[in-house]
Amino acid sequence: MRETTDSVLTETRESVDVAREAPAHQAMLSDVLAGLRLPQKQLSPKYFYDTRGSELFEQITRLEEYYPTRKERSLLEQWMPSWVHELRPAALVELGAGSADKSRIVLDAMSRYETGNLYVPVDVSGEFLHETAQRLRDEYNGLRVEPEVADITEPLEISVPLPRPSWLALLGSTIGNCDPVGAVRLLCRVARQLRPGDRFLMGADLRPGGAKTVQRVERAYNDVAGVTAEFNLNVLRVLNRELGIDFDLDAFEHRAFYNAEHGRIEMHLKAVGQQMVTFPNGAAPVYIESGESIRTEISCKYDRETIDLLFAEAGLCVERWVEDPEGFFALMLATRA
Ligand code: SAH
Ligand code: AVI
Repeated sequence: MRETTDSVLTETRESVDVAREAPAHQAMLSDVLAGLRLPQKQLSPKYFYDTRGSELFEQITRLEEYYPTRKERSLLEQWMPSWVHELRPAALVELGAGSADKSRIVLDAMSRYETGNLYVPVDVSGEFLHETAQRLRDEYNGLRVEPEVADITEPLEISVPLPRPSWLALLGSTIGNCDPVGAVRLLCRVARQLRPGDRFLMGADLRPGGAKTVQRVERAYNDVAGVTAEFNLNVLRVLNRELGIDFDLDAFEHRAFYNAEHGRIEMHLKAVGQQMVTFPNGAAPVYIESGESIRTEISCKYDRETIDLLFAEAGLCVERWVEDPEGFFALMLATRA
Protein backbone atom coordinates (compact mmCIF):
# COMPACT_ATOMS: atom_id res chain seq x y z
CA MET A 1 0.00 0.00 0.00
CA ARG A 2 2.98 2.32 -0.20
CA GLU A 3 2.62 3.65 -3.70
CA THR A 4 -0.54 5.70 -3.64
CA THR A 5 -2.38 7.38 -6.43
CA ASP A 6 -2.23 10.57 -4.40
CA SER A 7 1.51 10.44 -3.84
CA VAL A 8 2.06 9.82 -7.55
CA LEU A 9 -0.18 12.77 -8.29
CA THR A 10 1.72 14.97 -5.87
CA GLU A 11 5.11 13.97 -7.21
CA THR A 12 4.17 14.53 -10.84
CA ARG A 13 2.20 17.70 -10.25
CA GLU A 14 3.61 20.46 -12.40
CA SER A 15 3.38 24.13 -11.95
CA VAL A 16 1.22 25.96 -14.45
CA ASP A 17 0.49 29.62 -14.76
CA VAL A 18 -2.81 29.65 -12.96
CA ALA A 19 -2.12 32.63 -10.72
CA ARG A 20 -5.25 34.38 -11.87
CA GLU A 21 -7.47 31.35 -11.20
CA ALA A 22 -9.45 30.90 -7.98
CA PRO A 23 -7.61 28.52 -5.59
CA ALA A 24 -10.21 25.77 -6.03
CA HIS A 25 -9.85 25.89 -9.80
CA GLN A 26 -6.11 25.99 -9.51
CA ALA A 27 -6.11 22.87 -7.36
CA MET A 28 -8.52 21.16 -9.76
CA LEU A 29 -6.44 22.08 -12.81
CA SER A 30 -3.21 20.84 -11.17
CA ASP A 31 -4.91 17.61 -10.12
CA VAL A 32 -6.40 16.98 -13.57
CA LEU A 33 -3.15 17.76 -15.36
CA ALA A 34 -1.18 15.49 -13.05
CA GLY A 35 -3.63 12.64 -13.63
CA LEU A 36 -3.52 13.08 -17.41
CA ARG A 37 0.26 12.96 -17.42
CA LEU A 38 0.47 9.55 -15.71
CA PRO A 39 1.30 6.49 -17.85
CA GLN A 40 -2.26 5.25 -17.20
CA LYS A 41 -4.18 8.49 -17.52
CA GLN A 42 -6.65 8.92 -14.70
CA LEU A 43 -9.17 11.35 -13.24
CA SER A 44 -10.72 11.56 -9.79
CA PRO A 45 -14.31 10.22 -9.75
CA LYS A 46 -15.36 13.25 -7.71
CA TYR A 47 -15.41 15.23 -10.99
CA PHE A 48 -18.42 13.23 -12.25
CA TYR A 49 -20.66 15.01 -9.80
CA ASP A 50 -22.03 18.29 -10.97
CA THR A 51 -25.85 18.47 -10.83
CA ARG A 52 -26.16 16.57 -14.10
CA GLY A 53 -23.73 13.90 -12.86
CA SER A 54 -25.71 13.51 -9.63
CA GLU A 55 -28.92 13.15 -11.64
CA LEU A 56 -27.31 10.58 -13.93
CA PHE A 57 -26.16 8.62 -10.88
CA GLU A 58 -29.75 8.68 -9.59
CA GLN A 59 -30.85 7.19 -12.91
CA ILE A 60 -28.18 4.51 -12.57
CA THR A 61 -29.57 3.50 -9.17
CA ARG A 62 -32.92 2.76 -10.83
CA LEU A 63 -31.49 0.57 -13.61
CA GLU A 64 -32.31 -3.14 -13.60
CA GLU A 65 -28.61 -3.90 -14.14
CA TYR A 66 -27.39 -1.84 -11.16
CA TYR A 67 -28.00 -4.20 -8.23
CA PRO A 68 -26.03 -2.39 -5.42
CA THR A 69 -28.74 0.16 -4.59
CA ARG A 70 -31.54 -2.44 -4.40
CA LYS A 71 -29.43 -4.83 -2.33
CA GLU A 72 -28.37 -2.15 0.11
CA ARG A 73 -31.89 -0.79 0.40
CA SER A 74 -33.28 -4.20 1.33
CA LEU A 75 -30.55 -4.65 3.97
CA LEU A 76 -31.30 -1.22 5.42
CA GLU A 77 -35.02 -1.99 5.50
CA GLN A 78 -34.34 -5.27 7.26
CA TRP A 79 -31.84 -4.06 9.87
CA MET A 80 -32.29 -0.36 10.56
CA PRO A 81 -35.40 -0.59 12.73
CA SER A 82 -33.75 -2.95 15.23
CA TRP A 83 -30.26 -1.38 15.13
CA VAL A 84 -31.62 2.14 15.57
CA HIS A 85 -34.04 1.05 18.29
CA GLU A 86 -31.22 -0.59 20.22
CA LEU A 87 -28.39 1.93 19.70
CA ARG A 88 -30.47 5.13 19.60
CA PRO A 89 -28.46 7.46 17.31
CA ALA A 90 -29.16 11.13 18.06
CA ALA A 91 -27.74 12.28 14.71
CA LEU A 92 -26.84 10.91 11.31
CA VAL A 93 -23.88 12.35 9.39
CA GLU A 94 -23.73 10.96 5.87
CA LEU A 95 -20.68 11.25 3.63
CA GLY A 96 -21.49 11.37 -0.10
CA ALA A 97 -25.21 11.60 0.65
CA GLY A 98 -26.44 12.23 -2.91
CA SER A 99 -30.26 12.15 -3.00
CA ALA A 100 -30.34 10.63 0.52
CA ASP A 101 -32.95 8.23 -0.78
CA LYS A 102 -31.81 5.22 1.25
CA SER A 103 -30.85 7.45 4.18
CA ARG A 104 -34.58 7.94 4.71
CA ILE A 105 -34.73 4.39 6.01
CA VAL A 106 -32.37 5.37 8.85
CA LEU A 107 -34.13 8.70 9.37
CA ASP A 108 -37.53 6.95 9.48
CA ALA A 109 -36.26 4.60 12.19
CA MET A 110 -34.76 7.52 14.16
CA SER A 111 -38.09 9.31 13.98
CA ARG A 112 -40.17 6.25 14.82
CA TYR A 113 -38.11 5.44 17.92
CA GLU A 114 -37.56 9.14 18.75
CA THR A 115 -33.80 8.75 19.01
CA GLY A 116 -32.81 12.08 17.41
CA ASN A 117 -33.60 14.59 14.69
CA LEU A 118 -30.33 15.87 13.22
CA TYR A 119 -29.21 14.91 9.73
CA VAL A 120 -25.93 16.22 8.28
CA PRO A 121 -25.56 15.23 4.62
CA VAL A 122 -22.08 15.94 3.25
CA ASP A 123 -21.45 16.03 -0.49
CA VAL A 124 -19.27 17.67 -3.11
CA SER A 125 -22.23 18.22 -5.46
CA GLY A 126 -23.46 21.47 -3.87
CA GLU A 127 -26.61 22.39 -5.77
CA PHE A 128 -27.90 18.82 -5.71
CA LEU A 129 -27.11 18.58 -1.98
CA HIS A 130 -29.09 21.73 -1.18
CA GLU A 131 -32.05 20.41 -3.19
CA THR A 132 -31.87 17.14 -1.25
CA ALA A 133 -31.76 19.04 2.05
CA GLN A 134 -34.77 21.18 1.15
CA ARG A 135 -36.79 18.15 0.05
CA LEU A 136 -36.09 16.43 3.36
CA ARG A 137 -37.05 19.52 5.37
CA ASP A 138 -40.32 19.72 3.43
CA GLU A 139 -41.11 16.08 3.97
CA TYR A 140 -39.90 15.41 7.52
CA ASN A 141 -41.57 17.33 10.28
CA GLY A 142 -39.08 18.31 12.97
CA LEU A 143 -35.97 17.03 11.17
CA ARG A 144 -32.99 19.40 11.38
CA VAL A 145 -31.06 19.15 8.14
CA GLU A 146 -27.62 20.79 8.11
CA PRO A 147 -25.95 20.13 4.73
CA GLU A 148 -22.20 20.53 4.34
CA VAL A 149 -20.68 20.98 0.89
CA ALA A 150 -17.28 19.34 1.28
CA ASP A 151 -14.79 17.02 -0.38
CA ILE A 152 -14.57 13.85 1.69
CA THR A 153 -11.11 13.08 0.34
CA GLU A 154 -9.96 16.10 2.37
CA PRO A 155 -9.87 16.33 6.20
CA LEU A 156 -13.39 16.14 7.59
CA GLU A 157 -14.74 19.20 9.30
CA ILE A 158 -18.29 18.97 10.58
CA SER A 159 -19.28 22.48 11.58
CA VAL A 160 -22.49 21.65 13.45
CA PRO A 161 -22.08 20.39 17.05
CA LEU A 162 -23.16 16.76 17.13
CA PRO A 163 -25.39 15.32 19.85
CA ARG A 164 -24.23 11.87 20.96
CA PRO A 165 -24.36 9.12 20.11
CA SER A 166 -23.92 10.03 16.45
CA TRP A 167 -23.78 7.73 13.47
CA LEU A 168 -21.52 8.47 10.53
CA ALA A 169 -22.54 6.74 7.33
CA LEU A 170 -20.95 5.96 3.98
CA LEU A 171 -23.51 4.14 1.88
CA GLY A 172 -23.68 2.89 -1.71
CA SER A 173 -20.20 1.28 -1.54
CA THR A 174 -18.74 4.73 -2.19
CA ILE A 175 -15.65 3.54 -0.28
CA GLY A 176 -14.95 1.38 -3.36
CA ASN A 177 -14.19 4.47 -5.42
CA CYS A 178 -11.01 4.95 -3.34
CA ASP A 179 -7.86 2.90 -3.77
CA PRO A 180 -6.78 1.07 -0.58
CA VAL A 181 -4.61 3.92 0.64
CA GLY A 182 -7.34 6.47 -0.01
CA ALA A 183 -9.86 4.19 1.70
CA VAL A 184 -7.73 3.90 4.84
CA ARG A 185 -7.18 7.65 4.85
CA LEU A 186 -10.92 8.28 4.64
CA LEU A 187 -11.67 5.65 7.29
CA CYS A 188 -9.04 7.19 9.61
CA ARG A 189 -10.85 10.51 9.33
CA VAL A 190 -14.12 8.79 10.12
CA ALA A 191 -12.55 7.05 13.12
CA ARG A 192 -11.24 10.36 14.43
CA GLN A 193 -14.80 11.73 14.51
CA LEU A 194 -16.18 8.83 16.54
CA ARG A 195 -16.73 9.19 20.30
CA PRO A 196 -17.62 6.33 22.66
CA GLY A 197 -21.09 5.08 21.73
CA ASP A 198 -20.91 6.48 18.17
CA ARG A 199 -21.10 4.14 15.20
CA PHE A 200 -20.00 4.03 11.56
CA LEU A 201 -22.54 2.56 9.15
CA MET A 202 -21.14 1.43 5.80
CA GLY A 203 -22.32 -0.45 2.73
CA ALA A 204 -19.90 -2.49 0.60
CA ASP A 205 -20.31 -4.25 -2.71
CA LEU A 206 -18.87 -7.74 -2.44
CA ARG A 207 -16.47 -9.63 -4.71
CA PRO A 208 -17.89 -11.92 -7.39
CA GLY A 209 -18.40 -15.53 -6.29
CA GLY A 210 -21.25 -18.05 -6.21
CA ALA A 211 -24.42 -16.58 -7.71
CA LYS A 212 -22.60 -13.28 -8.20
CA THR A 213 -20.72 -13.78 -11.44
CA VAL A 214 -18.19 -11.41 -12.96
CA GLN A 215 -20.61 -10.95 -15.88
CA ARG A 216 -23.34 -9.83 -13.47
CA VAL A 217 -21.01 -7.25 -11.93
CA GLU A 218 -19.84 -6.00 -15.34
CA ARG A 219 -23.45 -5.68 -16.51
CA ALA A 220 -24.09 -3.22 -13.66
CA TYR A 221 -21.57 -0.86 -15.28
CA ASN A 222 -22.57 -1.50 -18.90
CA ASP A 223 -26.32 -0.91 -18.95
CA VAL A 224 -28.17 -1.35 -22.20
CA ALA A 225 -29.74 2.12 -22.04
CA GLY A 226 -26.29 3.74 -21.92
CA VAL A 227 -26.89 5.76 -18.74
CA THR A 228 -23.54 4.72 -17.24
CA ALA A 229 -21.81 5.69 -20.49
CA GLU A 230 -23.41 9.16 -20.23
CA PHE A 231 -22.37 9.39 -16.58
CA ASN A 232 -18.82 8.46 -17.56
CA LEU A 233 -18.65 11.08 -20.34
CA ASN A 234 -20.05 13.69 -17.96
CA VAL A 235 -16.62 14.00 -16.37
CA LEU A 236 -15.29 15.49 -19.61
CA ARG A 237 -18.24 17.90 -19.73
CA VAL A 238 -17.44 19.03 -16.19
CA LEU A 239 -13.75 19.52 -16.95
CA ASN A 240 -14.46 21.43 -20.18
CA ARG A 241 -16.83 23.77 -18.38
CA GLU A 242 -14.89 24.25 -15.13
CA LEU A 243 -11.38 24.44 -16.55
CA GLY A 244 -11.88 25.64 -20.11
CA ILE A 245 -10.45 22.40 -21.56
CA ASP A 246 -11.52 21.20 -25.02
CA PHE A 247 -12.16 17.47 -24.71
CA ASP A 248 -14.15 16.25 -27.72
CA LEU A 249 -16.90 14.16 -26.12
CA ASP A 250 -17.65 12.36 -29.39
CA ALA A 251 -14.09 11.09 -29.52
CA PHE A 252 -14.34 8.86 -26.42
CA GLU A 253 -16.10 5.57 -25.76
CA HIS A 254 -17.27 4.14 -22.44
CA ARG A 255 -15.49 1.00 -21.23
CA ALA A 256 -16.09 -0.82 -17.93
CA PHE A 257 -14.66 -4.19 -16.96
CA TYR A 258 -13.78 -6.24 -13.90
CA ASN A 259 -10.08 -6.30 -13.04
CA ALA A 260 -9.74 -9.60 -11.16
CA GLU A 261 -6.19 -8.90 -10.00
CA HIS A 262 -7.31 -5.82 -8.09
CA GLY A 263 -10.86 -6.99 -7.37
CA ARG A 264 -12.42 -3.91 -8.89
CA ILE A 265 -14.47 -2.57 -11.74
CA GLU A 266 -12.52 -0.04 -13.77
CA MET A 267 -14.31 2.57 -15.79
CA HIS A 268 -12.40 4.14 -18.68
CA LEU A 269 -12.95 6.55 -21.54
CA LYS A 270 -11.22 5.16 -24.60
CA ALA A 271 -10.05 7.53 -27.32
CA VAL A 272 -11.31 6.88 -30.82
CA GLY A 273 -8.50 8.38 -32.83
CA GLN A 274 -5.61 10.51 -31.62
CA GLN A 275 -6.56 13.50 -29.47
CA MET A 276 -4.77 16.65 -28.46
CA VAL A 277 -6.29 18.27 -25.40
CA THR A 278 -5.42 21.89 -24.75
CA PHE A 279 -5.54 23.80 -21.48
CA PRO A 280 -5.86 27.45 -20.60
CA ASN A 281 -3.06 29.34 -18.85
CA GLY A 282 -0.15 28.02 -20.82
CA ALA A 283 -0.11 24.41 -19.66
CA ALA A 284 1.34 22.09 -22.30
CA PRO A 285 -1.27 20.10 -24.25
CA VAL A 286 -1.91 16.44 -23.46
CA TYR A 287 -1.77 13.93 -26.32
CA ILE A 288 -3.93 10.85 -26.20
CA GLU A 289 -3.15 8.03 -28.60
CA SER A 290 -5.88 6.29 -30.57
CA GLY A 291 -7.15 3.44 -28.37
CA GLU A 292 -5.53 4.86 -25.24
CA SER A 293 -7.84 5.27 -22.28
CA ILE A 294 -8.37 7.58 -19.33
CA ARG A 295 -9.35 5.70 -16.17
CA THR A 296 -12.21 7.67 -14.68
CA GLU A 297 -13.22 5.45 -11.77
CA ILE A 298 -12.34 2.35 -9.82
CA SER A 299 -15.06 0.57 -7.92
CA CYS A 300 -13.44 -1.91 -5.54
CA LYS A 301 -15.34 -5.01 -4.49
CA TYR A 302 -14.73 -6.44 -1.03
CA ASP A 303 -14.73 -9.48 1.19
CA ARG A 304 -14.90 -9.57 4.97
CA GLU A 305 -11.16 -10.11 5.34
CA THR A 306 -10.26 -7.05 3.25
CA ILE A 307 -12.74 -4.87 5.11
CA ASP A 308 -11.38 -6.07 8.47
CA LEU A 309 -7.85 -5.20 7.34
CA LEU A 310 -8.78 -1.73 6.06
CA PHE A 311 -10.80 -1.00 9.20
CA ALA A 312 -8.05 -2.26 11.51
CA GLU A 313 -5.53 0.01 9.79
CA ALA A 314 -7.88 2.92 10.33
CA GLY A 315 -8.57 2.12 13.99
CA LEU A 316 -12.09 0.82 13.37
CA CYS A 317 -13.63 -2.48 14.35
CA VAL A 318 -16.57 -4.17 12.62
CA GLU A 319 -19.24 -4.86 15.22
CA ARG A 320 -22.06 -6.11 12.98
CA TRP A 321 -21.94 -7.47 9.44
CA VAL A 322 -24.96 -8.56 7.42
CA GLU A 323 -25.27 -9.69 3.80
CA ASP A 324 -28.15 -10.29 1.43
CA PRO A 325 -28.99 -13.99 0.92
CA GLU A 326 -27.11 -14.15 -2.42
CA GLY A 327 -23.96 -12.53 -0.99
CA PHE A 328 -23.95 -9.52 -3.33
CA PHE A 329 -23.71 -6.72 -0.77
CA ALA A 330 -22.81 -6.21 2.89
CA LEU A 331 -23.94 -3.67 5.44
CA MET A 332 -21.83 -3.14 8.53
CA LEU A 333 -21.71 -1.18 11.73
CA ALA A 334 -18.34 -0.32 13.22
CA THR A 335 -16.95 1.34 16.32
CA ARG A 336 -13.64 2.94 17.07
CA ALA A 337 -11.24 0.10 17.99
N1 SAH B 1 -24.88 7.67 -0.91
C1 SAH B 1 -25.68 7.70 -2.12
C2 SAH B 1 -24.91 8.32 -3.30
C3 SAH B 1 -23.72 7.53 -3.76
S1 SAH B 1 -23.00 8.26 -5.22
C4 SAH B 1 -26.12 6.31 -2.46
O1 SAH B 1 -25.73 5.39 -1.75
O2 SAH B 1 -26.86 6.13 -3.43
C5 SAH B 1 -21.58 9.00 -4.53
C6 SAH B 1 -21.92 10.31 -3.87
O3 SAH B 1 -20.75 10.81 -3.28
C7 SAH B 1 -22.41 11.38 -4.84
O4 SAH B 1 -23.50 12.05 -4.29
C8 SAH B 1 -21.22 12.29 -5.02
O5 SAH B 1 -21.57 13.64 -5.28
C9 SAH B 1 -20.52 12.13 -3.70
N2 SAH B 1 -19.07 12.29 -3.79
C10 SAH B 1 -18.23 11.69 -4.67
N3 SAH B 1 -16.96 12.05 -4.41
C11 SAH B 1 -17.02 12.91 -3.35
C12 SAH B 1 -16.05 13.62 -2.62
N4 SAH B 1 -14.74 13.54 -2.92
N5 SAH B 1 -16.45 14.40 -1.60
C13 SAH B 1 -17.76 14.50 -1.27
N6 SAH B 1 -18.73 13.84 -1.93
C14 SAH B 1 -18.37 13.05 -2.96
C1 AVI C 1 -20.89 5.90 -6.19
N1 AVI C 1 -20.23 4.67 -6.58
C2 AVI C 1 -20.14 3.74 -5.46
C3 AVI C 1 -20.76 4.06 -7.80
C4 AVI C 1 -20.07 2.71 -8.07
O1 AVI C 1 -20.78 1.74 -8.32
O2 AVI C 1 -18.84 2.66 -8.01
C5 AVI C 1 -20.59 4.98 -8.99
C6 AVI C 1 -20.95 4.36 -10.30
N2 AVI C 1 -20.15 4.32 -11.33
C7 AVI C 1 -20.79 3.71 -12.32
N3 AVI C 1 -21.96 3.30 -11.91
C8 AVI C 1 -22.09 3.72 -10.63
